[in-house]
Amino acid sequence: MAARGGFNSRIGFILAAAGSAVGLGNIWKFPFEVGAGGGAAFLVIYLFFAFTLCFPVMAAEIAIGRRTQSSPVSAFKKLGFPRWSGIGYLGLISGLLILSFYNIVAAWAFGYFFEMLRGHFEIAKHFSDYTADWLKIGSYALIFMLGTAFIVSRGVAHGIERAAKMMMPLLLLLVLGLIIYSLTLPNANVGIKYYLLPDFSKVTGAVVYGALGQAFFSLSLGMGALITFGSYVTKQTNVISSAAIITLTDVSIAFLAGLMMFPLVAYVTNGDLGAMADISGEEAFIFETLPTVFESLGPNLGLVIGSIFFLLLSFAALTSTISLLEVPTAFLVDEKKIPRGKATWGVALFIFVIGIPSLLGAGASQFFTQFIQMPEMESPISFMKFVGLIGGSTFLSIGGFLISIFTAYVWKKSNFRQEIEAENESALIRFLRGYVDFAIGIICPIVLGVITVVTILTNYLGVSFS
Ligand code: PHE
Repeated sequence: MAARGGFNSRIGFILAAAGSAVGLGNIWKFPFEVGAGGGAAFLVIYLFFAFTLCFPVMAAEIAIGRRTQSSPVSAFKKLGFPRWSGIGYLGLISGLLILSFYNIVAAWAFGYFFEMLRGHFEIAKHFSDYTADWLKIGSYALIFMLGTAFIVSRGVAHGIERAAKMMMPLLLLLVLGLIIYSLTLPNANVGIKYYLLPDFSKVTGAVVYGALGQAFFSLSLGMGALITFGSYVTKQTNVISSAAIITLTDVSIAFLAGLMMFPLVAYVTNGDLGAMADISGEEAFIFETLPTVFESLGPNLGLVIGSIFFLLLSFAALTSTISLLEVPTAFLVDEKKIPRGKATWGVALFIFVIGIPSLLGAGASQFFTQFIQMPEMESPISFMKFVGLIGGSTFLSIGGFLISIFTAYVWKKSNFRQEIEAENESALIRFLRGYVDFAIGIICPIVLGVITVVTILTNYLGVSFS
């Protein structure tokens, strides 16, 4: 047992789990989904899903981990349901797939940090050439993966916890600094208004579906990352309050990222709402538009603000890649009794290799760039998008659905309840616990079941709902 390690403190666990949650999803994707989905209207839906649907699943994952002190595959066996360890294997595959492409996007951001440091703002106009430069991006990706593996190989307390304790406060500081700065730019008020005034006319079925998928991915649910982190906490760690704090942190950082981004969008578009709508629905904003904003701030200030921004993005990505690598590593340590060091470096190398098609699929190779024509999509999607669709959306929703069913009906509510109950609970915690207890058996499986079916029908079978 001693070889597994564990978090030294509750705050260390919370920061590491929040670090897993806060990632590229929050800063790269969230603000743009908000822009496309009617501003605050999307925000409201997102918050609603995060708390009503994701929070109970998170509590279930942490409870399973804390109870069994095992990584996902072993956890289901330990509870006495070896057949359900399939959930663990599914999570393992999702983790490998997600990290294989996530690391490439992280490498883009990490590389931009150096470009900004050198004042290469014009890189923005050549973003597709940049991503197509497989040797350069491949080197950044290798460095990023090695950095991730280095931290994970050092163990839970010395590696993961320490890194989270350093990076998370820094991340918050950087976001706050950038918010203050962006609020001083011309037209900031127009950006903020656009962000915070809801336009419910833009809310369609697709927007609701997008909000749910985004919330689930952003909270790192459905693949056992939280089971794994939960397996490193002691019985003194309150499951419900921890899950609530992690959810709240993730949602808050996403919200703050929007607050930082929309004044910038308004600034580049001179507050033109039509142009803002175009840009804010566009993920490429970060890599194509933002550097021109930094450039317009002048060579010195632009360099500082630009490099801080991409450093921030790299930190956010790193705390997520750490958790993604920890899941397969913990599997090898627990199930195969492989020492942590060896397991970490071996998995990291393997994931780097399976990420090569994603690396090449950003312009370097025509075959991987236009990899597959999915029904219902206008043009062929890249290998990276394809892997994201399988690992990042389909498998996560299946995983989340199965975890809810397992917790409520196989492991059974009485056991779950025992794990999430604590002495001296406050009224709020008691209320939240009651809600989790109710939602995990009804709301979560129904909604996640529907989402899974819709995902499969629309993306793979070409059924249209609009
Ligand atoms: N939550 C991370 C993000 O928002 C991504 C992630 C998904 C990390 C699943 C771990 C597990 O970027």
